[in-house]
Amino acid sequence: MKILSVVATRPNFIKIAPFIRAIEKEREGGTDLTHVLVHTGQHYDNNMSASFFDEFQLPKPDYNLGIGSGTHAEQDGKTMLAFEQVLLSEKPDWVVVVGDVNATMSTCVTAKKMNFRVCHIEAGIRSFDRSMPEELNRIITDSIADLLLTPDELAIKNLLREGRKAEDIAFVGNVMIDTLDWLLPNAEKLTPKSIIEQKKAKSYGEKSFRESGNLVLITLHRPSNVDVIENLTAFLDWIERKTHCTFLWVLHPRTSERLKNFNLQARIATIKQLVMLEALTYTETLTLNLNVRTILTDSGGLQEEACVIGTPFLVLRQQTERPSTLIAAGGTGSIAGNTGADFDELFEAALKQERKAFRPHLWDGKTAERCLQEILSRS
Ligand code: UD1
Repeated sequence: MKILSVVATRPNFIKIAPFIRAIEKEREGGTDLTHVLVHTGQHYDNNMSASFFDEFQLPKPDYNLGIGSGTHAEQDGKTMLAFEQVLLSEKPDWVVVVGDVNATMSTCVTAKKMNFRVCHIEAGIRSFDRSMPEELNRIITDSIADLLLTPDELAIKNLLREGRKAEDIAFVGNVMIDTLDWLLPNAEKLTPKSIIEQKKAKSYGEKSFRESGNLVLITLHRPSNVDVIENLTAFLDWIERKTHCTFLWVLHPRTSERLKNFNLQARIATIKQLVMLEALTYTETLTLNLNVRTILTDSGGLQEEACVIGTPFLVLRQQTERPSTLIAAGGTGSIAGNTGADFDELFEAALKQERKAFRPHLWDGKTAERCLQEILSRS
């Protein structure tokens, strides 16, 4: 059997790494399996792409489509044209797509129109906010993929409600957690201090790291948070008032670009408890996750990791497609609204919240093996 997997952005690398290891293990057991890795190139910076290939011991991609940045139509259109050529020459038995980024959708549509079978890992999760590109990517992918592998039971309900048949759906658990379990021992060997001294973004003023006060990790990249200057300004004002905390803000390239365009770097340099950091490795991010009192984020993956290792977190969005990580479901997070919103009470409560690790059912580090077995059983 020939399986072709697609990756495009940072969160995809985290999800595909354990799947490729599962394929290698299966091959060692004697199964006749060929794997082809396609990187669309949506993320291309060393610290958004290449460094993860080293960290996750991923094989060099067989194809890099070089798509890069652009509008949605540009990214989707270019990906479809280039991916069509790959499919014509490779003719895989299965195409595997992960997550909810543009390439997930555009490669799935291309493959299905050419009658290739597609498996979607992380199927069925829904934010019910169709203004977000990721929600559209999820809905389109899940409406046509042949095999839908879900991280939780709620995702199965979503898919059945949308008219998908039970035989096309399998509950396998969360593949991100396979990577977390794999790299946790490495993360435990690092300290926030060493990471910060090494990675501090020099352009935001020289601040030395204080270990006193409550450590808070921030990651933001959604347009609703970082493309709106009023929200960013209100957020910075709020951070400045929180003198009992030290904020570690790990920058996504989109966010760096916006802060520069909005001329907010000088303002940031005056806030002494705010330290800006360049993009970190997966392991370094996990070290911060293990050591901070709370996290403010609009990332989906970080919510899941915080829940599993017990770190309280606030989702800086109006909703989440990952409700199984929230306090109401036994997890550690709360929805707090966008960066401009008033979430002070929730934040103070999160600072006092006990760390309590919570693993939703089948978030056990063995999801990738189950994904592969589901595919093999449909050969
Ligand atoms: C994408 C995904 C999002 C995912 C996120 C993880 C879609 C629609 N969005 O958003 O779901 O959570 O990745 O990071 O697919 N840039 C660089 N270097 C890079 C990559 C991006 O400088 O290696 C800059 C570019 O200026 C670009 C901007 O970041 O314009 C945004 O990148 P893009 O790939 O369009 O989307 P993300 O915001 O990263």
